[in-house]
Amino acid sequence: MVSEALIRQQNADLTHLNTLGFKCSAPWLVQVATADELPAVFDFAHQQDLPVFPLGGGSNVILRPALNALVLQQQPLPLDWPQDLSDQLLLRVPAGNNWHQLVMETASKGYHGLENLALIPGQAGAAPIQNIGAYGAEVADCLLAVEGWWLPEAGQPARFDVIPAADCCLGYRDSRFKRDWKGRFVITALQIQLKRSAEPRLNYGDLAERLHLRQQQQAGDLPLPQLIAETVAAIRREKLPDPAAIGNVGSFFKNPLVDHQQAQELQAAWPQLPIYPAEQGSKLAAGWLIDQCGFKGFCKGAVGVHDRQALVLVHHGGGDAEQLLALADEIVTCVQARFGVPLEREPEVVKL
Ligand code: EPU
Repeated sequence: MVSEALIRQQNADLTHLNTLGFKCSAPWLVQVATADELPAVFDFAHQQDLPVFPLGGGSNVILRPALNALVLQQQPLPLDWPQDLSDQLLLRVPAGNNWHQLVMETASKGYHGLENLALIPGQAGAAPIQNIGAYGAEVADCLLAVEGWWLPEAGQPARFDVIPAADCCLGYRDSRFKRDWKGRFVITALQIQLKRSAEPRLNYGDLAERLHLRQQQQAGDLPLPQLIAETVAAIRREKLPDPAAIGNVGSFFKNPLVDHQQAQELQAAWPQLPIYPAEQGSKLAAGWLIDQCGFKGFCKGAVGVHDRQALVLVHHGGGDAEQLLALADEIVTCVQARFGVPLEREPEVVKL
């Protein structure tokens, strides 16, 4: 039996717990305050014959109306700051903590590492799952390890583990948590490493220019990481819809990776196409491809494409996953026909 100290709710409404705002309910929602409570929750889920589905900020999931799972949420906890804030900081971040608050807290103390990732919605525990990234940085840059529980499996009890970041195979919006470890491990904390003396990463888009403007306007001496985080947040506010105002999950597709030859052919045919060097081949700006197909600002019933960033699909209210996925299919077909490039979806469609 789950202890009375846990917050649990039967027939829970998840509509306000996913940033798309899709109507969804689950047989159980359990909120835990500390990671030690998880084995009892796993036992309870087993008794109920339900899989456990950890839900963070709900900002990268597409939920269908009925989610047949015990939905697990972890509550935020205060950060354990060391007494001596030296150049290098090792920080343990509980999974339920808000990501943006973490970024602002570390940046305002003068630590580099997370500042380019300001205003990304969601909880810290979700960050390694798709290796969140923005403005030339990604969580892989400062992640040392993840802590959490392996769910009970094949007669084996739940097991606590600390997994080094190198074993998580973090890639562009990718990790083992999306692949062979999907549904098997619940992240309860991140171990990250930040530095005061690190070089800021300012070469993405107009970040350096915008930072310079902000530095000129800013009275007083704010730490550089904080200024960068505020600049990134300002840029994001201009381009991306606020999930509190309009349902969305950020970028709906990954920027596609193509080989050098295809990149050159596309560049020759479409000189304006933004192309970035990648580890193997080149990355294309999916937003530009979708924009060129005329989808920016497009509306189809309750769903549509954001009018300032074509990579973001939006939900205006009263719609559902099927409508959004039908629109996504239409976009994929159009981009494929026009540019010969397949688009891959970024958020997870929850199939429980
Ligand atoms: N573009 C257009 N039209 C559009 C959208 C974009 O022409 O409608 C062009 C832009 O002008 C720019 C290029 O495409 O030249 C790239 O656009 P942007 O800088 O806005 O970034 P992005 O590649 O579309 C990626 C991430 C974002 C992240 C930004 C900034 C992915 C899938 N998306 O978007 O991440 O914030 O870079 O680093 O990699 C997210 O994952 O949810 C997310 C928002």
